[in-house]
Formats: sequence, structure tokens, C-alpha cells
Amino acid sequence: MRIGVLTGGGDCPGLNAVIRAIVRRGLVEESDSFIGFRNGWAGVRDDDTFELDLESTRGILARGGTILGTSRTDPMADGAAGIEVLRETLRKHGVQGMAVIGGDGTLRGARDAYRAGIPLLGIPKTIDNDVGGTDLSVGFQTAAQTATDAIDRLHTTAESHNRVIVVEVMGRHAGWIATYAGMAGGADAIIVPERPFEIDRVCHHLHRRHERGRTFSIVVVAEGAQLSDSEGAESPAVPWAESRRLGGVGTELAQQIEARTGYESRVTILGHVQRGGTPIVADRILATRFGVAAAAAASNGHFGVMIALHGNEIVEVDLAVALAEPKRPDTSLYETAELFFG
Ligand code: F6P
Repeated sequence: MRIGVLTGGGDCPGLNAVIRAIVRRGLVEESDSFIGFRNGWAGVRDDDTFELDLESTRGILARGGTILGTSRTDPMADGAAGIEVLRETLRKHGVQGMAVIGGDGTLRGARDAYRAGIPLLGIPKTIDNDVGGTDLSVGFQTAAQTATDAIDRLHTTAESHNRVIVVEVMGRHAGWIATYAGMAGGADAIIVPERPFEIDRVCHHLHRRHERGRTFSIVVVAEGAQLSDSEGAESPAVPWAESRRLGGVGTELAQQIEARTGYESRVTILGHVQRGGTPIVADRILATRFGVAAAAAASNGHFGVMIALHGNEIVEVDLAVALAEPKRPDTSLYETAELFFG
């Protein structure tokens, strides 16, 4: 079987580990071979490829980013004519199936391309952890660790200066990184897009803490949270490739906290640092297991599926079913974190 591989959407730690695992598992079947497409679907459209073999995938397990490059190119952007262009490239290289490594947006594009007749399977990766149908996506655990490490560091400077530090983390419209890193880093308030959020309540937590003799606090806010919005944030109804940039809520929040409490406040926006660097052990293992399962599924002609983690099992789920709903953090998880606020 000749299998094409691409990475789409935002990069994350663990992508190279998936690519390596697909190729290494596939080479066990001596009849399998692999071709990489550069920069997501743009590489299929533009016929920008290179051979994925032992040599080109050597030494990449621990490397962040993606050796394939990535983009948010939508395979459906040019309709039926565009699909024909993609099909022509695949025919030219003898590709019989594609392994598409992506987050929610890339996998939705893949689902539509599959419906339009391109044989493919999906592998979930995103620091946001919001892909449905799987307990975890590649990259999330490393991003949560990076954010936690940053919170640990911010704690000591917040304490020295008796400040409130607002830490803005990524996650688009999902509060996974905020909840995990906030909980693991002992945040005094965590603000996520999924929950109504009142600034007075946050200030109340901080007051209570300061009354008890603490003179500093850490507030973690997800980039997709909205200030003064008692309904919580909704995902914008725009195509994923064009979706608006988020970020900046932390700055506004720090200003409001300072104005309402009088406590000196600062903001740290972690941004793309959460997407960079080497994957932690848990992501290397997950990526390797996903890659091996993907190569096996492709080799067996299982397309229209997504490789997923259920409990500790790696399974194949229907791609369209998996993408029906984004995955939200459990209410109970947030409620546990909330016990430690203030
Ligand atoms: O979806 C992954 C993600 O890192 C989000 O958490 C973030 O909002 C977005 O991508 C940033 O995308 P870009 O790098 O294109 O600005």
C-alpha cells in the first residue's frame, strides 16, 4: 500500500513522533511505502512532496514541530475542481490512502474530502484537546505541562512582588489547558470559555485570599473566555481556516482586577510557547501508539475512521461521528479545581 501523510492546522509537540511511528510500523509490512505532503493540503494541491522512509524519519521522535510543515489549507476550498486536483496528485504518486494528522479544523476538512471520494483516515492532534471521539489528542499533555511550568515560575515572582498575575493560555474555545494547568499549578481562579464568568466573583476570590493573609494570586484565563459575558463564549460561525485570532482577554482582565481591587496586577500571555518544544513522555507514547495504529488501519484499507484513545485502548472510530461535537472539559473536573479558588 502506498500511503500519503500530511499534518494540518497549528503545530504541536508530538507530530514528528506520529510520522515516525506511521513509517516505522508501515515498513514492517514490506509492501507499504510512504510519501509526505508539505504544508498540509497545500502540498497535495501543489504536488510538493518527499519520500518518507527510515532515513527521512530518523532522529525525529523528540523533535517539536513537524518535518512536513503545516498549514490551514482547506481541501474543499475549491469545490469539486479542487478535489480533482488533489486526486490527480494522489494518482500521480500512486497514493492509495492518506493519513491526515490534524485538529478539529483539519479533521473536518478531511471528513469532507473523504465524503468527496479521497480515501483517508484521521489522527487527532491539538494542544486544545477539543477533538471529539477521543479521550486525548497528541500535543495537549505537553502544552498543559508547559503552561503548568510557567505558572510555577510566575508564582514565585508574584509572591515576591505581592502581585496578581493573570496567565493567559491557549485553547481557542476549549478550556482544557486552562483547567489542567490551573489545577496543576494551584491557580486562585480559572476562567474558561465554557462557563459563565463574572469579574466580581474573581475579585471576590482574590479578596478572600488576601484577607487570609496572602498577598499575591494567580489567575488563569483561557484565550477564548469573554469578559462580562454571563452567557459564556460561543464558537464563531466562520470556516476554520479563516477563524479569527484570539488573545488579549488576559490584558483586559488584569486591568479590571487592578481597578476593582487595588491589587497591583500583571499579565503574561503564554502564546505559541505552548505549541513549541519537545513532547513529554505521555505525548511521545500516545503519538507512537496512534501512528502505529494508523499505519495498521491504512494497510488494512480502513478509511473514513479516526484513531482514538478510549481509556487505555487505542481504537478506530468513525471520523464523522467523532467530529459531531467538540470535546469539552468535564464539569466535575472544573468543580474540583474550584474548591481551591481564593
Ligand atoms: O488550535 C491550536 C491553537 O494553538 C489555538 O490554541 C490557538 O488559538 C491557535 O491555534 C493559534 O493559531 P495561529 O498559530 O494560527 O495563530
